[in-house]
Amino acid sequence: MEITAKTIDKFVVNILEEVGNSLIIDTTKDKLVDTKRDRNDLVTNFDKSTEKFIVSMIKEGYPNSTIVSEEGFGDDVKNMDGLVFFVDPIDGTMNFVKRGDDFASMIGVYLDGKPFVGGIIDVMQKRVFHGGPELGIYCNDKKLPNPQNKSLREGLIDISARMVLSDWLNTKEIVKNSSGLRVYGSAGIIFEHLLLGKEVMYMSYLAPWDLAAGRVLCEGAGLQVTSVDDTPVNMLKSQVVIAGTQKVVSEVLKTVKNCD
Ligand code: IPD
Ligand code: CA
Ligand code: CA
Ligand code: CA
Repeated sequence: MEITAKTIDKFVVNILEEVGNSLIIDTTKDKLVDTKRDRNDLVTNFDKSTEKFIVSMIKEGYPNSTIVSEEGFGDDVKNMDGLVFFVDPIDGTMNFVKRGDDFASMIGVYLDGKPFVGGIIDVMQKRVFHGGPELGIYCNDKKLPNPQNKSLREGLIDISARMVLSDWLNTKEIVKNSSGLRVYGSAGIIFEHLLLGKEVMYMSYLAPWDLAAGRVLCEGAGLQVTSVDDTPVNMLKSQVVIAGTQKVVSEVLKTVKNCD
């Protein structure tokens, strides 16, 4: 298939809609839940079957691309040359298992290392956020305005619970200076909140598949995504990432620098 932003955007949206429809129907069935690193790191049969489906669609549509994915059905990707797809089949597996909502499926596409197209489906709300720097950002068929450049004290923020509890990187100070902390438990759902202007910053330790789609969409919407030492994020490793309005990211970087 053609390698244009428009064609790949459509390709990604079609896959995510299909994933969304099948997850909505299937979640009424029993889930087989397994643990990975610890008792709070879950994986289900749906994470695996969804990733297998997305990977097979990508291999069929773009056989020369490479795939970085969470559950092991992708490739061993060593560099960002050409077209690279990042797949998180179910983001927020804990929410998927315990609550049955606030989970997403995400596909991020990079061309020679540059953010190209991103797609996040909020499954239970049937909302697909998609697009990229060339196309602008859409929620289903509606083009979204860029979020306002709010400051930390004007907005809600989301930081992973683990980081705040341990006060890693001065996170308690960052929370104090904001309008308040929210912890949604799905990177995809939090990126949705950033794109809609409902939250002004997200800070978490993220794997490449947690970050890829959200980074494309945030940067396409005029938001900033950076690592804690203010160097560009590396898409082939896990790292602490700050995403948010330009104003908030610069305030947060200052606070992070002041930690011991
Ligand atoms: C997790 C969620 C969570 C974030 C974790 C991720 P998963 O993804 O996005 O919000 O804090 O770091 O691993 O495992 O449910 O796809
Ligand atoms: Ca996981
Ligand atoms: Ca994830
Ligand atoms: Ca996942």
